[in-house]
Amino acid sequence: MNIKPEQKPVLETNADLIVLGLFDEKTQKDASYKAIDSALNKSISNYVLKVEQFKPKFLSSYVLPTLGKINTPKILIMGLGEKEKFTSDKLRQVSMSVASKIKAFKNVGSVSVVIPQSVGADEAQCITEGFILGQYCFDKYKSEKQKNILKTVLVHTEDVKSAKKGIAKGELLANATKFARNLSNEPAQYATPTKLAEIAQSLPNITTEVLDKAACKKQGMGAFLAVGQGSDQPPKFIHMTYKPTKKASKKIAIIGKGITFDSGGYDIKPPASMLNMKDDMSGAAAVLGIMSVISALSPNIEVHAIIAACENMLNGSSYKPGDVLTAKNGKTIEVDNTDAEGRLTLADALCFAEELKVDEIVDVATLTGACLVALGHYASGIMGNDDNLIAEIQQASEKAGEAFWKLPIWETHMDSLKSDIADMKNTGSRYGGASVAGAFLKNFVSSTKWVHLDVAGTAYLESPYKGFIKGGTGIAVRTLLEYITK
Ligand code: BES
Ligand code: MG
Ligand code: ZN
Repeated sequence: MNIKPEQKPVLETNADLIVLGLFDEKTQKDASYKAIDSALNKSISNYVLKVEQFKPKFLSSYVLPTLGKINTPKILIMGLGEKEKFTSDKLRQVSMSVASKIKAFKNVGSVSVVIPQSVGADEAQCITEGFILGQYCFDKYKSEKQKNILKTVLVHTEDVKSAKKGIAKGELLANATKFARNLSNEPAQYATPTKLAEIAQSLPNITTEVLDKAACKKQGMGAFLAVGQGSDQPPKFIHMTYKPTKKASKKIAIIGKGITFDSGGYDIKPPASMLNMKDDMSGAAAVLGIMSVISALSPNIEVHAIIAACENMLNGSSYKPGDVLTAKNGKTIEVDNTDAEGRLTLADALCFAEELKVDEIVDVATLTGACLVALGHYASGIMGNDDNLIAEIQQASEKAGEAFWKLPIWETHMDSLKSDIADMKNTGSRYGGASVAGAFLKNFVSSTKWVHLDVAGTAYLESPYKGFIKGGTGIAVRTLLEYITK
């Protein structure tokens, strides 16, 4: 899909479809609207709005044939809702909705997009992200593939230079998201720890180091290795580095939970809960998506991306409830439940990240069912040891249109993790489970600013939501890229 800015008046372009954004009735119509409406003998104002009583509520739509009065055969009128309540995320959602509607249209190879407000870099970025995200499908394993006939999107603007910039950024962010969605949607038989390592090694302008089991043992990663020890798939600890050409203004680490399949281990999951557990590497997928475009975005920040990848399986060598593990920082953990494996892998990854002497650490993890219960697919949990960093990431998430809701980590959340024989257990109270998991992780960060994103409810959708189809969403990719490039 080729997305480009267009300065010419909309009636002088020859797209197969005009997408015309419209605010609610009270708002004065702009020049493009008036030009189109008058070329159509006022059929929008007199017929669509009056006779048909079309209300331009947010995400409502109306298809109007133009019957030869203008070059473009039809117009897709998109409701934008109230002007005062319109946001860049709404623009992204409208664009997603258009892209998904167009899948059903025959013969629409090009569209002209006209909205009743000026289009600068941010607006162009949102439109671009919306079109790419809205067209997404995962048909790799289908005999019949989705036909993408939409080839050209013209974004009407008076500021071509800014729009170009926004489109370029939007393409990178949306493609990174797509990269992550694809990986989350891949079955565990494909997306193994070895595969994730290979993908990391193939990324442009990134140096990647992969630690195998023996190397992890030398590093003292007893918690991570325990989780993977019951699988035929060898664990891989993946460390990718992006370095800017100039001296970096700061160093950050992003960690993605990389359980390529979570059966629960011996505290095995019931079938319904195990069904989508190929998605338990969505944090890793996000981190890989980010690293796939980072050099093209060229932020002046050194970025370390870390994935402790393994499978949580059952066999004669699996770790067991009651085992005592020693993490990289020397702390001991009594295994209370082998299904609380993500935090064990993250424990060693956090220690590794801190040893890199980074300024900030952010981890992304499908960590707790409790977070899914608390926030649903509506928002991810955000918590950590630094309120400023949490606020900064929340700010970036607003721009990305991804919701992160702050949850506490208090001393009291550690109470239920007390062990009789080790420094802590890996599980405690089921209630407030997302915060309890956060409290567990906090033991593996000593002084670095750290934020934990629990994306258990948002990384993989059971049914469509806000323009995203069922399956992987690539959650956190755009938020973290906005944060890194701000
Ligand atoms: N991968 C799961 C969390 C999860 C649940 C992700 C639902 C996506 C959707 C995690 O490893 C897990 O099993 N957590 C347990 C922890 C419990 C044993 C304390 C859970 O949440 O049930
Ligand atoms: Mg689990
Ligand atoms: Zn898990």
